Amino acid sequence: MQEHLIIFDTTLRDGEQSPGASMTKEEKVRIAWQLERMRVDVIEAGFPAASNGDFEAVKAVADSVKESTVCGLARAIEMDIQRTGEALKGAQSARIHTFIATSPIHMKNKLRMAPEQVIEQAVKAVRWARQYTDNVEFSPEDAGRSEIDFLCRILELVIDAGATTLNIPDTVGYTMPDQFGKLINQLRERIPNSDKAVFSVHCHNDLGLAVANSLAAVMNGARQIECTINGLGERAGNASLEEVVMAIRTRQDYFPCDTRIDATHIVSASKLVSSITGFPVQPNKAIVGANAFAHESGIHQDGILKHRETYEIMRAEDVGWGANKLLLGKHSGRNAFRARLTELGIEFESEEMLNSMFMRFKELADKKHEIFDEDLYALASDEVIVQHECFRLVSLIVHSETGEVPYARIVISENGNEMHAESQGSGPVDATFRAIESLLNSGAQLQLYSVNNITSGTDAQGEVTVRLYKSDRIVNGQGADTDIVVASAKAYLNALNKLCSKLERAHPQI
Ligand code: KIV
Ligand code: ZN
Repeated sequence: MQEHLIIFDTTLRDGEQSPGASMTKEEKVRIAWQLERMRVDVIEAGFPAASNGDFEAVKAVADSVKESTVCGLARAIEMDIQRTGEALKGAQSARIHTFIATSPIHMKNKLRMAPEQVIEQAVKAVRWARQYTDNVEFSPEDAGRSEIDFLCRILELVIDAGATTLNIPDTVGYTMPDQFGKLINQLRERIPNSDKAVFSVHCHNDLGLAVANSLAAVMNGARQIECTINGLGERAGNASLEEVVMAIRTRQDYFPCDTRIDATHIVSASKLVSSITGFPVQPNKAIVGANAFAHESGIHQDGILKHRETYEIMRAEDVGWGANKLLLGKHSGRNAFRARLTELGIEFESEEMLNSMFMRFKELADKKHEIFDEDLYALASDEVIVQHECFRLVSLIVHSETGEVPYARIVISENGNEMHAESQGSGPVDATFRAIESLLNSGAQLQLYSVNNITSGTDAQGEVTVRLYKSDRIVNGQGADTDIVVASAKAYLNALNKLCSKLERAHPQI
């Protein structure tokens, strides 16, 4: 009988700490629903004490997710833990994750605390957290570079104080798989009360070893892996959820445990995170890259046709490739539309919102005959944008002709008041952005502009991501349309709306 391996997803917390990957409350809730649909055991939704915005986002996730445990991160400080406890009040199942650094380099230079003070603070933190929930995780930050005797002492005491999960982070991605596996083994052997807690690992990918280190830990008794969709995370990222889950699932002959993840939702989760953060997935990325199941060489194709397993160890459909079935078209009615949204877990705030989405679906079906699930996700996020933003695109005319200077004429409404502008540019997108800037004068710096097709074919919707930087804030804006210049204008306005919002999204350095 296989043991259960807990999947702890930290896309919304460590993933969000990646520069430029900051998410709004609504975006976090959408990703959380997708993680819940995938049957992720624990969703780390954010760092509530970091900002009011993050507090509200963690609260919104805690209030709306029912099947997964919702977790919030807190430094080993009473105020952080209180805030986290408050944010998680509405969760069906809540976990507080508290941490303090234990490596000599962090204790001396960052915390400026003696090892005994660190132990004392860690124990207090776990006790504070236990006042809110009996599900408490403790992490000795930079465990990969900490002294094992010290780790054994602090971990024994936090278990006594009530920690139920001990997470061992390789914070700087420094350890080697063999070494990390041994560390987990020794901790389990040497800590007298180690059987009272679940051992977890949290590996960073600075040397490209995050997944290998996590799997080595599993072979040595770890029963929780912390990971992120697409491997998003600080610097080179965290262990990628899809790689961890599929390695364990594909090699059931090797691993003593399995996850309860429904892998058929992996590709949609990857696309959702990529579109919200604006971080594209490299084509050769394992599991979720566009080429992960593509066979180019004749020898491989021939082998696959004769017997699939000659070159394929997993089936593309098992991770959700090709699952975007054509279900709706121009003649589909409102009920079929509503039913499909419900099946996909797309929620609408009111009947008015559903009606507006239905109208836009009909418009889209006129331009693009086949509507896929991905189109519906894009339509839903566009609708959220339309309902909540103060700057909206009313109309856009662009002219581009060989040998002529492109220009754009745009109408934008600001809280219902229409404003007109026109501008020339080096191309139609440049002209459009200049026209918007001539009206709104944001002074923001464009850091990234990317276009992806949501589905295949030249009639597909293009999804544009725009990243803007202003006064220490970085925001991503998205827009989707079958016309990529219109999608670009929507994405630019979406980013400006986020810059104007009062939500503070800064993360304190930890
Ligand atoms: O990398 C790390 O050490 C962390 C901790 C907060 C778990 O993200
Ligand atoms: Zn981390």
